[in-house]
Amino acid sequence: MNIALIGYGKMGKAIETIALEKGHNIVLKIDINNASDFNQENISKADVAIEFTGPHSAFVNVMKCLELGIPVVCGSTGWLDQWEETKSYCEKQNGSLLYASNYSIGVNLFFEINKFVAKLMCNHTDYNVVMEEIHHTQKKDAPSGTAITLAEQILSFSKSKQQWVNEITQKAEDLEIVSKRIDPAPGTHTIKYTSSVDDIEIIHTAHNRVGFAGGAVLAAEFLHDKKGIYSMKDVLGL
Ligand SMILES: NC(=O)c1ccc[n+]([C@@H]2O[C@H](COP(=O)([O-])OP(=O)(O)OC[C@H]3O[C@@H](n4cnc5c(N)ncnc54)[C@H](O)[C@@H]3O)[C@@H](O)[C@H]2O)c1
Repeated sequence: MNIALIGYGKMGKAIETIALEKGHNIVLKIDINNASDFNQENISKADVAIEFTGPHSAFVNVMKCLELGIPVVCGSTGWLDQWEETKSYCEKQNGSLLYASNYSIGVNLFFEINKFVAKLMCNHTDYNVVMEEIHHTQKKDAPSGTAITLAEQILSFSKSKQQWVNEITQKAEDLEIVSKRIDPAPGTHTIKYTSSVDDIEIIHTAHNRVGFAGGAVLAAEFLHDKKGIYSMKDVLGL
């Protein structure tokens, strides 16, 4: 497979290593310094683009991939207020798009565990639920995209929580997400159900970026010959 990397930072480089190990070719590497090379001529050498730039550039980059007719796997977080517009444009273009707030297989299993626990706990109103996420200090968005996914799953089952808030709160209707920025944490998410008699916690801790990068390459292998809009659930058959 010929891959274009849109974003060649920590994640772009980790993806390159794994893609090369798996026998794929990297035919284009775009970062902030050569953004003008992201054009029809260069992108047409690729079968699929993998976009990991950041919250402020993801939407424009994904739309450009769709406009230029290249399937795009996007991992940038913090831009999903523009998701509906992106989805509509993908459908209009008959394009190929895969988004995941987290590409790690472990986190995608953790999402399923989170739903199971949230469903189990929703009738046990003695317990309050809170979340904490820890990432490295260069992370631009808070809470993390993964924390938002986890929060939305909890909200879909909870009888008391109405919305998530990114601060410490005493309000029963708010799901508290505390974001901590500590180097070199690649990503830790903790969900804690707490009562006056005991606590129940589920935790996912990423040890490095290999899990995210491997999942993104797997997603690109899945997407490159398909049309439509997909998630990691489709890739992993969850
Ligand atoms: N979905 C996941 O599994 C997952 C995992 C880790 C990180 N992320 C997200 O991926 C994104 C990137 O993370 P990172 O740690 O690699 O960041 P980084 O800062 O190390 O790298 C970002 C790269 O994007 C480039 N870039 C920035 N603006 C650009 C633009 N307008 N055009 C082209 N290139 C541009 C930069 O030059 C750099 O090469 C973040 O949003 C992060 O939250 C997602």
